Amino acid sequence: MNMKLCIINGPNLNLLGKREPEIYGSASFEDYLKELSTKFPEIQIDYYQSNVEGEIINKIHEVGFDYDGIILNAGAYTHTSVAIADAIKAINCPTIEVHISNVLSREEFRHTSMIGPYVKGMISGFGLDSYRLAILSFIK
Ligand code: DQA
Repeated sequence: MNMKLCIINGPNLNLLGKREPEIYGSASFEDYLKELSTKFPEIQIDYYQSNVEGEIINKIHEVGFDYDGIILNAGAYTHTSVAIADAIKAINCPTIEVHISNVLSREEFRHTSMIGPYVKGMISGFGLDSYRLAILSFIK
């Protein structure tokens, strides 16, 4: 198949496993990613994490004209970043917005997604499994 996907995680998601485990679980993303990659041996799954808004935008530009899709958990920037929304609008490949928690069941400020109008779809609330479900959406 030769499909290339890039998972991009935004701020504080480097702390997965340690950060509020009652909301985000106790597994590190690195461990989860190893397991995820074995489930989709035919897909190249690359991974990038940054706490810095501009670095996330640079990565979206870098992969967005070359990869088949981006799976983006922009963390709190989801709710604030016009610049990340513009980056998603600017590239060629589809972006799937993912969240580990169900953002609509949480504080009101998490109910707004600046990137929502420009993504192909949004998956929220399935724990780390949200990423696997996003990958499935690319498989016809
Ligand atoms: C999150 C939800 C966001 O509201 C929050 O700021 C995060 C993680 C999630 O995966 O559930 O950092 O994107």
